[in-house]
Amino acid sequence: MIAIEAPYCTVAAPSVTLLTMSTVNELEPSRQKWDPNLYGARASFVHRMAGDLVELLAPKAGERVLDLGCGPGDLTTTLHGAGATVVGLDASPEMIATARARAGASGPSFVVGDGQSLPYDGEFDAVFSNAALHWMPRASDVARGVARALRPGGRFVAEFGGHGCVARVRAGVSEALQRRGEDPGAWLRWYFPNVAEYVAVLAAAGFDVRLAHLFDRPTPIDGDDGLATWLRTFLPPLEDELGADWPAFVREVEASCEPFLRQREPSGQGRWVLDYVRLRVVAGRP
Ligand code: BEZ
Repeated sequence: MIAIEAPYCTVAAPSVTLLTMSTVNELEPSRQKWDPNLYGARASFVHRMAGDLVELLAPKAGERVLDLGCGPGDLTTTLHGAGATVVGLDASPEMIATARARAGASGPSFVVGDGQSLPYDGEFDAVFSNAALHWMPRASDVARGVARALRPGGRFVAEFGGHGCVARVRAGVSEALQRRGEDPGAWLRWYFPNVAEYVAVLAAAGFDVRLAHLFDRPTPIDGDDGLATWLRTFLPPLEDELGADWPAFVREVEASCEPFLRQREPSGQGRWVLDYVRLRVVAGRP
């Protein structure tokens, strides 16, 4: 039986033109390449805002946990600190090298691997994932691999971008790309499913879905250059592709987003607050 905790959807339909990201991805691999230094310096909000997801997992000493899409390993180390035996897996060799260097010999173990073809069989008590599944368009392969990796009775606790995530940013990027004759769908490849879609994916993989919650999570980004840095961090292949045109492109996206995503503070300073939407799930392997 599928039980969804209510309210499972708190998101009003945004009034901007949305690309149907969960369907444009098809099966192509992401063109993303990562700069762990930039990510560490300017994207620490990714793990800082996930403390309550760790609480939801409630790792126990002695449990075996897979951190799927671990990035530079901040939360992997948190789980390890709770006494769990943790494996952090990420597709980016650069991220894994950074995670290993930061964690040291007594930290968790880290492996380079594709979350869409997990090699594990009944090895984990829990699979945890924060801000990673939207980079994996083959969601059914991910869910089946996670189910296989868990022992019977094991749990899957995950949060990632949900339907409507960064809609204003995507609209601004799309318009700026279209003005350049580029196909936005070739660049904006995140998988942002809605509740019904993702619950169906989990159920088809054999999970009992215990919680599926789509919610707005406005995300402040430090600095006047916050949006520009976010674009560089999360769309670096596009920066390479546009070359000398990148600064003009960024200015166009900023102008399009400013009325919606730039907040004025009493001091007169502005700050970017991006329109993140998260999908959080808890599911059990029977
Ligand atoms: C994230 O890592 O949380 C994220 C990345 C790209 C778009 C939206 C969210």
